[in-house]
Amino acid sequence: MNIILLGPPGAGKGTQAQRLVEARGMTQLSTGDMLREAKTSGTEMGQKVAEVMAKGHLVTDEIVIGLIREKLEAGGNGFIFDGFPRTLPQADALNELLADMGQSLDAVIEMRVDKDEVLVQRVVNRAAEAVAAGKEPRADDTAEAMQERLFVYYKQTSPLLGYYYAKGMLQGVEGLGTMDEVAAEIAGILDA
Ligand code: AP5
Ligand code: MG
Repeated sequence: MNIILLGPPGAGKGTQAQRLVEARGMTQLSTGDMLREAKTSGTEMGQKVAEVMAKGHLVTDEIVIGLIREKLEAGGNGFIFDGFPRTLPQADALNELLADMGQSLDAVIEMRVDKDEVLVQRVVNRAAEAVAAGKEPRADDTAEAMQERLFVYYKQTSPLLGYYYAKGMLQGVEGLGTMDEVAAEIAGILDA
């Protein structure tokens, strides 16, 4: 089973993907995590990507599609796409990559959090917790970068909701619930 977790920054995609990895042995493919790894690699590309991410803007389709292609070519199934696709060209590319592997998408789960202030508070809290634990917070976990991330989501990524709705694949969960409630709703969709 291959699924997409779709939703605004801070909606809980990474949190729920991690739970699915633990509960079901699925494979999480987070382009955000992959790009943050590229940053620590110290390459010129990694540095450029880090600057784009810190502002809350999207990295080019070419780069993220290349990262996903590499992971898919390594084989496997039961993928959770977390933070990918984020644009219509990325969605088309994912269809093609999966078709080439003889696989398809089974569900697209929208994590709905229709309160921006909750999303901002979640990531600002995460940054504060990181600092308290002596770790470096994500450069984009600030109120300012979050405004930009949200704007980019509504402008460039939310059209994917219509795209997958038209394909009859879109399902939704209430992302404002507790982590356990959200996990239970997702399990209900996957087990249906
Ligand atoms: P990415 O890493 O994907 O970040 P994001 O989606 O913007 O934001 P988050 O990871 O914060 O949100 P999440 O939904 O995973 O929530 P989480 O579980 O962490 O992308 C970062 C950047 O990389 C992008 O801005 C872009 O520059 C680049 N990028 C990545 N993919 C790209 C692509 N495909 N194309 C182009 N560029 C790309 O939870 C957030 C916080 O809330 C946590 O502290 C968590 O503990 C808490 N929380 C979670 N669930 C709940 C709950 N139910 N109740 C209370 N708190 C909760
Ligand atoms: Mg995430």
